[in-house]
Amino acid sequence: MSHNTFGHLFRVTTWGESHGPALGCVVDGCPPGIQLTEADIQPWLDRRRPGQGKFVTQRQEPDAVRILSGVFQDERHPDQVTTGTPISMIIDNVDQRSRDYSEIAQAFRPGHADYPYFAKYGVRDYRGGGRQSARETAARVAAGAIARKVIEGVTIRGAVVQIGPHAVDPAKVDFSVTGDNEFWAPDPDIVPIWTEHLETVRKAGSSTGAVVAVEATGVPPGWGAPLYGKLDAELAAALMSINAAKGVEIGAGFDAAALSGEENADEMRMGNDGVPLFLSNKAGGVLGGISTGQAVTARVAFKPTSSILTMRRTINEAGEEMELRTKGRHDPCVGIRAVPVVEAMVACVLADAFLRHRAQTGGGIHQPGA
Ligand SMILES: Cc1cc2nc3c(=O)[nH]c(=O)nc-3n(C[C@H](O)[C@H](O)[C@H](O)COP(=O)(O)O)c2cc1C
Repeated sequence: MSHNTFGHLFRVTTWGESHGPALGCVVDGCPPGIQLTEADIQPWLDRRRPGQGKFVTQRQEPDAVRILSGVFQDERHPDQVTTGTPISMIIDNVDQRSRDYSEIAQAFRPGHADYPYFAKYGVRDYRGGGRQSARETAARVAAGAIARKVIEGVTIRGAVVQIGPHAVDPAKVDFSVTGDNEFWAPDPDIVPIWTEHLETVRKAGSSTGAVVAVEATGVPPGWGAPLYGKLDAELAAALMSINAAKGVEIGAGFDAAALSGEENADEMRMGNDGVPLFLSNKAGGVLGGISTGQAVTARVAFKPTSSILTMRRTINEAGEEMELRTKGRHDPCVGIRAVPVVEAMVACVLADAFLRHRAQTGGGIHQPGA
């Protein structure tokens, strides 16, 4: 009933709140014998960590992860490996500041989840947004790090491709340069434009939205399933489950509606290596819910942060009308820090799809002419 779990064979349950002592997750179904220590997970968490730039929340969290179960090491396994049992991970919260939230103890932030949580449960941990807080996404990133080890041949890379009205020219997207700037921008030329935009937004006490693009290369044909386990449907559900996500596109997405059949259908030839060659990738690497062997591509639209310093009209738990400006440390553009989370969700979905494909078919691929 509580829906804190996702995945089928690679099954992730997250737990914890923003201002509790810790948060974490349990990954169940990870195959045994995979080398795994905290050092495999920490670098991914470090990419999501708050407090790392001028345009993200200044909350300082080391996000140091500890593995509590599901791994083993002895003289026969000198490198610690997974055992096939649930892997539990914990991340301490160390920089909580609850006083920032006294004003929203009774009031509902417009655009945030305060009101529906109250309407549903009648009680809510308002400190830092409690369970609604994107602190929870640290646990997703930890799970995603394990998923990446399950599908080691797959490379998953995300990038911010739009902040506010300023989009990157699709022809200039280069995923290999995203680590060179504080925005995960795939084109260095956009950085000064975004810097100026965010400076204006921050000074105004406002916030702005963003679009994150992600691609997974190295996914073989065959992952995913018709009809109710479509890979694109599962990716969309996983990506929409990220805080502040408001839209997901696979491949050409909404633009496909404006294309002709000729423009949209990815033509095929036989490649020199005996593997089919697609001449374009409007499908985003998925047809009929099953991967084609092309890069799996998606885009996620993130709304502007709802906690802003501008005075807004709202109501409180007593039903009284009031005005509220939200203090505290907030991301002026949540899409920036969402990049590692988007990658992690794609990793978890693909690891799950891989394990299910292997369970049903043995994992082989049928190639034309073979
Ligand atoms: C990485 C990340 C950081 C976020 N930081 C904030 C924040 O600082 N302040 C805020 O109000 N919302 C923030 N959010 C968004 C809220 O968590 C989200 O809007 C809220 O849980 C309501 O859910 P919904 O927007 O999905 O409907 C963040 C989201 C992400 C993905």
